[in-house]
Amino acid sequence: MDGEVGPVLYDSLKRLEYRGYDSVGEAAVVNGKIVVKKDIGKIDEVERRLRISDLSGSIGIGHTRWATHGAPSQENAHPHLDCKGIVAVVHNGIIENFMELKQELEASGHVLRSRTDTEIVAHLVEENLKLKIGFVESVRRAAKRLTGAYALAFVCADEPDKIVCVRKESPLVIGVGTNANYLASDIPAFLPRTKNALLLEDDEMAVLKHDQVHVMKVETGEEVVRKPFVVEWSVETATKSGFPHFMLKEINEQPLTVRNALRTQPIYLELMASAMNRANKIFLLACGTSYHACLAATYAFANLAKVEVTPVIASEFIDSYGALIDKDTVVLTVSQSGETADTLTAVRGAKDRGATILGLTNVMGSTLTRLSDVYIGQNSGPERGVAATKTFTAQYSVLIKIALALARKRNVASSKDIQRLEDGFNRLPEWVSTTLSAQRENVRRVVQKNSDKGSFCFLGRGISVATALEGRLKLLELSYLPAIAYPAGESKHGFISVVEEGYPVLFVAPQDEAYSKIIGNVMEMKARRAHVVSLVEGNDGQVASLSDETIQMPNGIPSLLTPIVFIVPLQLFAYWMAVMKGYDPDFPRNLAKSVTVH
Ligand code: F6R
Repeated sequence: MDGEVGPVLYDSLKRLEYRGYDSVGEAAVVNGKIVVKKDIGKIDEVERRLRISDLSGSIGIGHTRWATHGAPSQENAHPHLDCKGIVAVVHNGIIENFMELKQELEASGHVLRSRTDTEIVAHLVEENLKLKIGFVESVRRAAKRLTGAYALAFVCADEPDKIVCVRKESPLVIGVGTNANYLASDIPAFLPRTKNALLLEDDEMAVLKHDQVHVMKVETGEEVVRKPFVVEWSVETATKSGFPHFMLKEINEQPLTVRNALRTQPIYLELMASAMNRANKIFLLACGTSYHACLAATYAFANLAKVEVTPVIASEFIDSYGALIDKDTVVLTVSQSGETADTLTAVRGAKDRGATILGLTNVMGSTLTRLSDVYIGQNSGPERGVAATKTFTAQYSVLIKIALALARKRNVASSKDIQRLEDGFNRLPEWVSTTLSAQRENVRRVVQKNSDKGSFCFLGRGISVATALEGRLKLLELSYLPAIAYPAGESKHGFISVVEEGYPVLFVAPQDEAYSKIIGNVMEMKARRAHVVSLVEGNDGQVASLSDETIQMPNGIPSLLTPIVFIVPLQLFAYWMAVMKGYDPDFPRNLAKSVTVH
């Protein structure tokens, strides 16, 4: 572009500030050298400290980081450089094979400065540049070695007229301007400068110069011809990727966030499984939605790893179990924010009694990560909707992977069961995305039909009790309706007195071990003339035929994976109910995203 790049980068990063981040950085090519400015903190704090908007040069890249690999720190902030400072890279996503590549690079003399999965990419390009094949080809060959999800952008001191970028699974959009071109992970970054956008597809790369954009395939280097489209969205709509609310955007992100959660490095799963294997007592600790992920995981630990774990609501933990906690206790704590006061108090209480703390969180660098002996980041990216959606499915995805690691360690699962689950992991993103596309309108219709009802009940059996409880929580927190959730078998011990003609009961009814019993529960409700809405597999016969309305789910999901797919229509149900009642689903009354008070 003409003019200085610093103010443009600063302004563009500010436009993406709504996404949440812990550190900021920029790199530009100035007089044939790469200049990097980066640090932890908010953009304006880093601006005060380092004057990032002063960066000169006409080509540059910038980044705000939401930590995944490696805690928030100056070294871990992007951009990252190679050994010689010739290549700078920024990255969104997860490089799955970074450990292997890191070992290979270190063995051939590279010195890595950060703990990120990103830095290795700069060194891979550095290696390729030694072959004198040029910057673009060096990036292409480096990208071919990566597995995982990535949107990468590079500058190179040797070829200061271009930015090279690559995409696989993580979003990357190019803004085609007049005498300037832009790239970003989200359209709002460049929307005030150009409305002409070009989407990169998976396994494509692009070379941006001030007056040209070339798109090509990573595999072959073959050119791709693609015309830009005109973005009609306002900045406000663009920040939600065209969705009317963050919650709907986040529900729709789940095929990707589930896949990212399943990418957790085996070494951390292994560390947690080892700690759990040594323990005498294991507690799963959390609040709210995170507690429901723990509840579902309890079934997985029992049925897959054959290990008893006790799920506990954090505010009850020390009063209920404080007397039992000692150095042989493991407390696996789940908290999206890592800052929930009730959860942290319980963790501190357990730590004081000598327990080992394992943490699962979406916020690296949060208090939970500091209190934990081992922690895992669930890789969901920031969640803006107050109601947890994508972070629930990601939490449970990691928890089931821990359960599987423990089952393997204890040698208690058959290879057939393990294979079925592994196949299921591969298909999960597709199941979630099919459910989203096939049921979006149906769920809206079901909500419309039932929007005058004053209360709802959610029933399930086995692992689906957790799904029912989470569906209930979503509905009541967003639409302020009293809602009930029960193990279906328990409903006849009290709840059934509430049921009268037309009372809406939602059944979560996958065809798992509990299926034959839930048929009886549906009959009990129908006998009281309840209005039954059931979530059933596509090939379902009996429950579907007993129901007034059905929401059809994909067939053949392994029982332990059903919460991840069956919760999706219930999230949509709560979303649409709030919207139809005129409430803002992103900001339900009286609730905060992170509850930092007792
Ligand atoms: C529900 C919701 C809350 C949180 C709870 C725990 O949609 O968001 O119930 O799940 O406050 O928060 P974290 O996971 O941050 O500890």
